[in-house]
Amino acid sequence: MDDGLSTAEIRRRFLAHFEAAGHTVVPSASLLLDDPNLLFVNAGMVPFKPYFLGQETPPYPRATSVQKCIRTPDIEDVGRTTRHGTFFEMCGNFSFGDYFKEGAIELAWELVTKPVADGGWGFDESRLYPSVYVDDPEAVALWRRVTGLPDDRIIRLGKKENYWSMGVPGPGGPCSEILIDRGPAYGPDGDFTAEDRYLEFWNLVFMQDELSAVRSKEDFDIAGSLPKRNIDTGMGLERVAFLLQGKENMYEIDVMFPVIERAEELTGRKYGADPTDDVRLRVVADHVRSSMMLIGDGVTPGNEARGYVLRRLLRRAVRSMRLLGYDDPALPELLPISRDKMGETYAELHTDWDRISRVAYAEEEVFRKTLQAGTQIFDLAASEVKAQESRVLPGSKAFALHDTYGFPIDLTLEMAAEQGLSVDEDGFRRLMAEQRERAKADARAKKGQHADTSVYRGILDDHGPTEWLAYETLETESRALAVLREGRPVTTLGNGEIGEVVLDRTPFYAESGGQVADAGIIEFDGGRLEVVDVQRPVRGLVVHQVRVVDGELDPSSTLHAQVDPEWRTGARQAHSGTHVVHAALREVLGPSALQSGSYNRPGYLRLDFGWLSGLTAEQLRDIEQVSNHALRADLPVGWQYMTLAEAKEWGALALFGETYDDQKVRVVEIGGPWSRELCGGTHVDHASQIGTIVVTGESSVGSGNRRIEALTGVEGFGYLARERDVVSRLSTLLKTQPDDLVGRVS
Ligand code: ALA
Repeated sequence: MDDGLSTAEIRRRFLAHFEAAGHTVVPSASLLLDDPNLLFVNAGMVPFKPYFLGQETPPYPRATSVQKCIRTPDIEDVGRTTRHGTFFEMCGNFSFGDYFKEGAIELAWELVTKPVADGGWGFDESRLYPSVYVDDPEAVALWRRVTGLPDDRIIRLGKKENYWSMGVPGPGGPCSEILIDRGPAYGPDGDFTAEDRYLEFWNLVFMQDELSAVRSKEDFDIAGSLPKRNIDTGMGLERVAFLLQGKENMYEIDVMFPVIERAEELTGRKYGADPTDDVRLRVVADHVRSSMMLIGDGVTPGNEARGYVLRRLLRRAVRSMRLLGYDDPALPELLPISRDKMGETYAELHTDWDRISRVAYAEEEVFRKTLQAGTQIFDLAASEVKAQESRVLPGSKAFALHDTYGFPIDLTLEMAAEQGLSVDEDGFRRLMAEQRERAKADARAKKGQHADTSVYRGILDDHGPTEWLAYETLETESRALAVLREGRPVTTLGNGEIGEVVLDRTPFYAESGGQVADAGIIEFDGGRLEVVDVQRPVRGLVVHQVRVVDGELDPSSTLHAQVDPEWRTGARQAHSGTHVVHAALREVLGPSALQSGSYNRPGYLRLDFGWLSGLTAEQLRDIEQVSNHALRADLPVGWQYMTLAEAKEWGALALFGETYDDQKVRVVEIGGPWSRELCGGTHVDHASQIGTIVVTGESSVGSGNRRIEALTGVEGFGYLARERDVVSRLSTLLKTQPDDLVGRVS
């Protein structure tokens, strides 16, 4: 039988169709776009959100993309239904105030029904049902006109199905979906919400509203209309692939099934022979792929937020293989199969393979060890329960097993059942929910207190972006555009009060890219503000968090903004020092040691990087030495703007998860090609200005991830001076010379 269009071909045709219709083809953004409300990119529209909200001017009126997405709320459904993938690719076309409902419907219908021989999908019209939001007669009329379908083939559904939002405040609107009838074998006639029978594969969102609160799919507040009427569509690539490839579900398509086949070989189980095994095989195929894509974009396993999701996916994959009877390390057998398939589209899976596989395999090793340790703890808990003549394992025990030993609850449930025990699942879930809340609050706290950005957007709309002069100067004469206290506009701030000030122009560096915000003062006629933090809650707007240390703020007076020059010197040293240590690290350990995060403030820097084992004292010494050689050679430091493609060609290291403007990125180089990184930070002019780099320590931060810390500038010298002092006092006490001290002590 003909296997239908390959996933790659479906993707190609989608983009070609929309490119021919005047859309700019935009490459997929990282899964980790910096949106305070989202853990991962979960729809094709996410990178375009500022355009929909009118926060930024789109560089094109129409765009099309195939976006990598992660959705994990349905993780328990993976493998049980035809269509729940934790990773998936969403094909989309977008109009930013350009065409609206009619254009979207025409373009979608054309591609869906055009014969395969002519470049379309060739779906049989008699099996297709458009759905519309109940209150959208305009859409009904358009569908009838464009498709020629009778009225009863156009399905009216409520908010749950046919109003789309991001699930959080942001843009939204009524939508239309295209459903395909898979026939009576999949469910009763006419039950259009039973997704197995009438499967939705393309969602056309008529994006016109701005939502201020979203409590559920059906319960949300519309704050008003968006500045323009837009189109956002999402077509599930995997869904269309399984439909066109004549498969039962997304796990059987050409880019996923090879993993199932390999798992069959390893486990000796046959796909299709046993429903429980089938679910496990699909879980393996899905989770292996999702984990690989997440690691590819820079996530490492951990116990919070993104790292926790990755850990869960990896462990569920490994666990499923064990339940299928395979006890050896499974990921080294499975991950390369997924890489070979997905690598056809995402070449970085090949170029970055060393790091990706290392992180995944290390997590499997850790999990194998925890399984061993946790099993003993479980046995102990089970015998305690029995000794108390109970048959229920307390929720707190299940939670501890989960939290401390990484035991998934289904594992605990299964092991308990084997001993004739049940588990207090409610108690367990309550503790889990509390933990999740903590993790969420943590993530929010890390993003600053700017959860509600509407006030800042209002300021941006009224006054335009802040003129940002951090690269040029340390002081400016400025005007206050807005003063806020507790998030609300005020006309003054009294002595001792804390608030926020937005200036028309500022020399202050706002925290980003690992570099902390500048410190300094803002003077006004009759008083002074101390700048305690600087953030950019919406792109383009710099907000100073201040405390009035003298006088009462009169916002109408001319303000003098002044960055503390000492502070900035230290910040430049530390940030350039971070790049130097990164380059030295890669020189000593090899190019697969890649930064996964960093933080620097005057005098101090730390750098996290993907690496399996602790570094030896010798490696640390080498890193410090290579770093200081770069300082002694006084390597020149420079920066320039270029396109992302040019930057990549130049070998610039782009750290995943950061967002960049579509057009130009800033590349900072130290010693020419020796160190090239995408970076928006402030830097010294040449390396000797860093003063010195003193590596103070190295430690583990989660599996497969290490942290190196160092001091720069006077802090570095201060550290050495303290050590010298200790040595000299010990020498005096022991009546010996510093060089003989070790011999004397031993
Ligand atoms: N943004 C819409 C969705 O995710 C298209 O379904």
